[in-house]
Amino acid sequence: MGSDLWIFGYGSLVWRPAFPYRERRFGYIRGYLRRFWQESTDHRGTPEAPGRVATLLPRADAICWGTAYQVQPERADEVLARLDHREQQGYERVTVDVVLAPPASGSAASATAPAPGGGDGDGDGDGVEALMYVATADNPHYVGPETLADIAAVVRACHGPSGSNREYVLRLSEALADMGADDPHVFELARLVAEGG
Ligand code: SIN
Repeated sequence: MGSDLWIFGYGSLVWRPAFPYRERRFGYIRGYLRRFWQESTDHRGTPEAPGRVATLLPRADAICWGTAYQVQPERADEVLARLDHREQQGYERVTVDVVLAPPASGSAASATAPAPGGGDGDGDGDGVEALMYVATADNPHYVGPETLADIAAVVRACHGPSGSNREYVLRLSEALADMGADDPHVFELARLVAEGG
């Protein structure tokens, strides 16, 4: 087909894509809720001490902010192979419509991003179809609901081959704050993780 591939990231892909892309835009998707209800034994934890990473749950009235990456057609196969490997622990590819925030003039888009949840979204940004990776509730690493205090305790304790679980949570929280997005689940978790030292 030769058209550009778009990838939407809502977890580590927000702040550490680690693949080549042409353009990066902040944006949101409708109908998904971000939760730290997926365990990680291969990136931010180990089989003995699994960390917690983000996944998305279907929720009709929810909006989830993240980062959309435009990948050149000639790099698409390579990027998808890398991501299929990176997201192999329970994640599946899903196609989703992304509402893009206007291009940011500086490093932070808070001044230009449409207000999360504001309005009906019609006309407040370009739309693109993107691929994202979602770990559904029937994958073997899905943990399900836990209190934020319990998740924070796990996050503080866990490290894996990609680094500390603490880094994952804090950098995602910072990136969402920078783009002007609101996500009480992530922000409160980051506060508890940071508070715990
Ligand atoms: C994503 O970031 O979009 C998927 C989950 C992750 O790699 O953290």
